[in-house]
Amino acid sequence: MAKAKNPAFAKATAGKQDNDIMPKLTALCKQRGFIFPSSEIYGGMNSFYDYGPLGVELKNNVKRAWWQAMVYSRPDVVGLDSAILMHPKIWEASGHVQNFTDPLVDCKKCKKRFRADNILEAKGIKPDLGTMKNPPKELQECPECGGELTEVRMFNLMFKTFMGPVEEQANIVYLRPETAQGIYVNFLNVKDSLRLKLPFGIAQIGKAFRNEITPGNFTFRTREFEQMEMQYFVNPKDADKIFEEWKEKRMNWYLSLGMKKENLRFREHEKTELAHYAKKAADIQYLTPFGWQEMEGIHHRSDWDLSRHMEYSGQDLRYADLSTGEKFTPYIIETSAGADRAALMFLLDAYQEIEGGRSTTTESIKESETVLNFDKRLAPVKIAVFPLSKKPELQKPCQEVLDFLRGERLVQYDETGSIGKRYRRQDEIGTPYCVTVDFETLEDKAVTVRDRDSMKQERIKISELKNYFAEKFV
Ligand code: GAP
Repeated sequence: MAKAKNPAFAKATAGKQDNDIMPKLTALCKQRGFIFPSSEIYGGMNSFYDYGPLGVELKNNVKRAWWQAMVYSRPDVVGLDSAILMHPKIWEASGHVQNFTDPLVDCKKCKKRFRADNILEAKGIKPDLGTMKNPPKELQECPECGGELTEVRMFNLMFKTFMGPVEEQANIVYLRPETAQGIYVNFLNVKDSLRLKLPFGIAQIGKAFRNEITPGNFTFRTREFEQMEMQYFVNPKDADKIFEEWKEKRMNWYLSLGMKKENLRFREHEKTELAHYAKKAADIQYLTPFGWQEMEGIHHRSDWDLSRHMEYSGQDLRYADLSTGEKFTPYIIETSAGADRAALMFLLDAYQEIEGGRSTTTESIKESETVLNFDKRLAPVKIAVFPLSKKPELQKPCQEVLDFLRGERLVQYDETGSIGKRYRRQDEIGTPYCVTVDFETLEDKAVTVRDRDSMKQERIKISELKNYFAEKFV
């Protein structure tokens, strides 16, 4: 019997999953045009990736679904697209110049570099960065070769560049490490131009950059990535309640796109591990082959950001509630997701290896099959069109079908190999429907539509195809 073999489906404990899945998924992503190592013909560049023709569709679909849920479906959230390079004082006000650091140690013998907090965590010790000046003995020995470690150095994760032709301290600008600050500094512009009343949110999708010490696990932790962030401005008295509400809403978003419940959980941050801006924080974690990992953070940022920007800019960012006469600095509840990380988790969640195959055709029997069972909204290619054979009489109806279907969604044409092989190829990239044009089409003006998940086939008139798929892709 066909058996689904997807460790990410299993209720396994962290770190106990089949570690094979990451190399297999990475290989599939490269072979099938999802994700390529960046700058590959020059030997690649560690932790940078390029999205190929299918990857860009997947990531765009994730971002579109997020925008739909966060902006189009809500009367109280609007969008923004702020600059990547911003006034350097913003990063002083935000605390990133001073606090956005990781503790770094190097091995004097094997020259490997580690995050000190990761070494301690791996030994079951809660890292307390305040005591790094007198590091515990677990931080003196290299975890790989036993060599002596250097002292802990704090390393700022922001990438710097220079504005203008002179490379000097006064011209330093930073590549933003989060999109959030672009929202805070536009709080007044957005509120006043749209005459918004509290509570309201501002959503943004855009690139962020971090000079991570230990990037890895494919696109999970990279130095250039995209964030999907929403900052919700509230009256301080409502902040705790709204924080809880956003936690649920964000968890439900992943579930609504088909992620399996058993692969998702919350992790509340303890007081000692909170980021410098956070009063409370909860991660939405996903069960990856490399353990439970953060996919999104929901943060109660109190009045940290707006107060600091008032202090550093000298502008009054307080909110005047005309109905009560109150004037106060709004609190902020943030939902912060990674578009690349979400795309990777949707890939992992959809990945299924079926030993022995699902099909009973002799040709493919006993072959292991890979299926990406994405939600239809996320699938890169929505429909594949095949002629049963390359015979010239099938070309015209095939073209007619393609003309009917193209324009609204990505459609792929494939005429190579047996129909069984073509189904396998589409299953492997998660295409929900395959349409076959055969010799009967010449008589009945109908085609066979095959469903990826049920593998059921039905005969549909070409003239009805548009409506048929309009219903399937609501
Ligand atoms: N504005 C708050 C903020 O940036 P964060 O927890 O540092 O919070 C939010 O980042 C999300 O951004 C993470 O949950 C993750 O999805 C994504 N992210 C952060 N660093 C990343 C990296 N190096 N590579 C890929 N995604 C990353």
